[in-house]
Amino acid sequence: MKNYIKHHPWHIIEEGFDTQVNRVSESIFSIGNGKFGQRANFEEKYSGDTLEGNYVAGVYYPDKTRVGWWKNGYPEYFAKVLNAPNWIGLNITVDDEELDLALCEVSTFNRTLDMQKGLLHRSFTAKMQNGITITADITRFCSLSKSNLGAISYSFSLDKDATVSIESSIDGTIVNADSNYDEKFWIGVNTMATKETALLIAKTKKTDFYVGVTTDTQIVTNGEQLHAENAETSKKYASSTTAFKLKKDTVVGIEKKAIIISSLDYEKENIQTVLETEMASVKHASFETLKANHEFTWAAKWEESDIVIHGDISAQQAIRFNIFQLNCTYTGEDERLNIGPKGFTGEKYGGSTYWDTEAYCLPFYQATADPEVARNLLIYRYKHLDRAIENAGKLGFTDGAALYPMVTMNGEECHNEWEITFEEIHRNGAIAYAIYDYINYTADKKYLAEYGLEVLMGISRFWAQRVNWSENQQKYVMLGVTGPNEFENNVNNNWYTNKLAAWCMDYCRESIAWVEQNYPAEYARILAKTKYNEKEAIKWAEISANMYYPYSEKHQVFLQQDGFLDKELIPVKDLPESQRPIVEHWSWDRILRSCYIKQADTLQGFYFFEDEYTDEEHKRHYDFYEPLTVHESSLSPCVHSILAAKLGDEKRAYEFYLRTARLDLDDYNNDTRDGLHITSMAGTWLSIVKGFAGMRVKNGELTFKPFLPENWDGFSFKIRFNGDVKNVSVTKQGIEIQG
Ligand code: BGC
Repeated sequence: MKNYIKHHPWHIIEEGFDTQVNRVSESIFSIGNGKFGQRANFEEKYSGDTLEGNYVAGVYYPDKTRVGWWKNGYPEYFAKVLNAPNWIGLNITVDDEELDLALCEVSTFNRTLDMQKGLLHRSFTAKMQNGITITADITRFCSLSKSNLGAISYSFSLDKDATVSIESSIDGTIVNADSNYDEKFWIGVNTMATKETALLIAKTKKTDFYVGVTTDTQIVTNGEQLHAENAETSKKYASSTTAFKLKKDTVVGIEKKAIIISSLDYEKENIQTVLETEMASVKHASFETLKANHEFTWAAKWEESDIVIHGDISAQQAIRFNIFQLNCTYTGEDERLNIGPKGFTGEKYGGSTYWDTEAYCLPFYQATADPEVARNLLIYRYKHLDRAIENAGKLGFTDGAALYPMVTMNGEECHNEWEITFEEIHRNGAIAYAIYDYINYTADKKYLAEYGLEVLMGISRFWAQRVNWSENQQKYVMLGVTGPNEFENNVNNNWYTNKLAAWCMDYCRESIAWVEQNYPAEYARILAKTKYNEKEAIKWAEISANMYYPYSEKHQVFLQQDGFLDKELIPVKDLPESQRPIVEHWSWDRILRSCYIKQADTLQGFYFFEDEYTDEEHKRHYDFYEPLTVHESSLSPCVHSILAAKLGDEKRAYEFYLRTARLDLDDYNNDTRDGLHITSMAGTWLSIVKGFAGMRVKNGELTFKPFLPENWDGFSFKIRFNGDVKNVSVTKQGIEIQG
């Protein structure tokens, strides 16, 4: 755990230059606008520890799979969002020495993320090896108001007269650090550079996505505009260089604007023209004007999604950080895009879509953005239904059974560890649950008729084929699965998976009946398309009614899976600190045999289906499972926070909240350097809204059961519900809802 970020309600602040945490900071100070985003790399050269990262949403590459032992059914490739051409480059040379903070004596350094305005600031004073001291001030943003625009304002001065050159570049020679075979994924298509402008178009191998970037760089000193005299291009690099003599203490102001587009939005042959016209539309606008438009759009975003906490700056900063990063990652206008677990902040997880979206992220966007945004997240899966049917087909399932992938970019499975790819099938259930959740929240039942039902049918068909009748149990069982707790593989009858499967088949039957009655034309269309036969629903009802659930009479709890009680049940508190996280200290074999739970599993089911169980049952299960849970997935503490709040354990609810909220800011798991835990950030929002405020939607009505953490004076948030924006405010006096 690190603790170097200064507390502030709206800013994330790093003071002083510490090369040891630079990579962590590059993740924390990341910015994005839903269309593209980037790590907080420096504009100028940096030879220290860094992970350069620029990402364009939806632009991916099928990297050939690497596995030890190939298994039939493995996907051939892992589609990953690519590290894309880097447009921020501003290399500064002072008297023949390139500015490189790794080699300077840095006397002051400040990096600030202004979350309210969506701006990344940096300022520093650094003595170069040639004895010249440079003082710089930089602001950068990825425009939220014009989603293809990025901009930088970089000003500096020196303490001595010197010859300076500034190279403004677009670099397409980037590689993915996680490339499986050190392959280079980009092919240069076109580069151009003139005095002020650079342009680069590159395409991905195999997937043939085009990304086009153009930049305009203006350099002014002493009120005089300087012009580059040197332009350089190679196949994947374009830059222009301006050299001049600079008097001491004279400020140089650089404004660099970039347009970033891809063939997801434009015809390939038009990319260059679009780049040119889009740049022409902003070329004469000042940085300040473009920044003001961007800030205005951020203000509107905050108006809808902010959570205000009174009396606890650390918690306030943390929740805003989580909300900020969620809004940088996904804005929801484009149904082809989704939310990678690391968003635009790193390469891990390949920028692909996981069950995280449905289980954790959907409720955040549902309540804080236009209903279209959440709907687009569901449509994304609807559009992948045929692929999910194909995926299931590859594993031997038939007749329209759908298995959604564990990890995907385009609907095809990318994951390749048999115990997850083939067995972690609960993801199918989360996708079905999200349809229910969305309809329950928005009352948009038409969605069921138009899209949702087909997905539910495909998934129900899968469950019906995946279970088998056990003569021994006289029940339906589900063998060889992995639940959300990935520290157990290939288990029989994971309670959570069995429960979700049975629920899904019931919900699907109800939905069929409802669509038949209310949307007969859609019903007829679905019947014809899916070749649905009423006997299927009869079978689903029979399976659901006779599903096997492992249960302990002694403990009066559902068991996570068959045989769970054979384990040595030693609570986590008795594990020496030196052995944690166990994933870093223990062999996989030892982990699998242990009782330790990576993340909410049985409790995830209680969280989804809370109305089916009494408070006593909740408490029994929470008391049984939480002490065995190591929370080594970022997705775990939030569910526990919500359950603890429900059970009135306010202290634990708050502890879990802090753990999820400051996970990245304080680098709890020592892995922030790889990128932020974007999807679990939605869980942080849930901890406050569903946990502390106790918000639920029951029979179309909002209900609350609030509590106020001891050290808070109050908190408030806005949510969209039934077409209105409601203001919810919790104080020591109680709860107030307006709107
Ligand atoms: C968790 C999964 C999750 C994935 C991506 C894993 O560590 O166990 O549940 O989908 O991370 O966030």
